Amino acid sequence: MTTIAIDGPAAAGKGTLSRQIAEAYGFHHLDTGLTYRATAKALLDRGLPLDDEAVAADVARNLDLSGLDRGVLSAHEIGEAASRIAVMPSVRRALVEAQRAFAARQPGTVLDGRDIGTVVCPDATVKLYVTASADVRARRRYDEIIAAGGRAEYDAIYEDVRRRDERDMGRADSPLRPADNAHLLDTSKMSIEAAFSAAKAIIDAALKH
Ligand code: DC
Repeated sequence: MTTIAIDGPAAAGKGTLSRQIAEAYGFHHLDTGLTYRATAKALLDRGLPLDDEAVAADVARNLDLSGLDRGVLSAHEIGEAASRIAVMPSVRRALVEAQRAFAARQPGTVLDGRDIGTVVCPDATVKLYVTASADVRARRRYDEIIAAGGRAEYDAIYEDVRRRDERDMGRADSPLRPADNAHLLDTSKMSIEAAFSAAKAIIDAALKH
């Protein structure tokens, strides 16, 4: 069983990189952020509270991993709600169980998130920790919104990136951090193509062993 674990902070380029890697190796891909987002959206849609751990865990246990779509889950308020329920241990337990079942699929899988190498798949075949400076990540998100014809303010996006980092790295349960045996990939000065080549070289070397 081959599992590629990809972790890193928000807007580091993990999503694009993970999709490209899954395609290159013919592996299944799960963006685990979507499992937190889908749980949060289900609560919001049903008018259920975001601060009741038992209710949120119940929704998480009944989540269907097959129709997860970043398009409908990308809204800012869903991301905020997701990061609030992501601090709840029983929500994490339910989603981690579903993520581990996914990781066992053949011929191999790519999972990306915050705690894949540390908690979800500690025995992953290869672990990558993809990062970039907060400034570069905020700039990329800003450019994305402008390119899509939206309106954005750089300072507000930068603050948002910093706040999200603090919440993801500061929580008690499964905080964001590189696994001891993760390969660090800082994409601050890399294009998407360069990041992909660097990641592929690391993975190819690891798969040979
Ligand atoms: O990567 P994203 O923005 O879609 O993630 C949404 C939230 O879910 C984010 O605040 C971090 C959290 N998350 C997590 O705690 N663990 C994961 N494996 C993936 C995401």
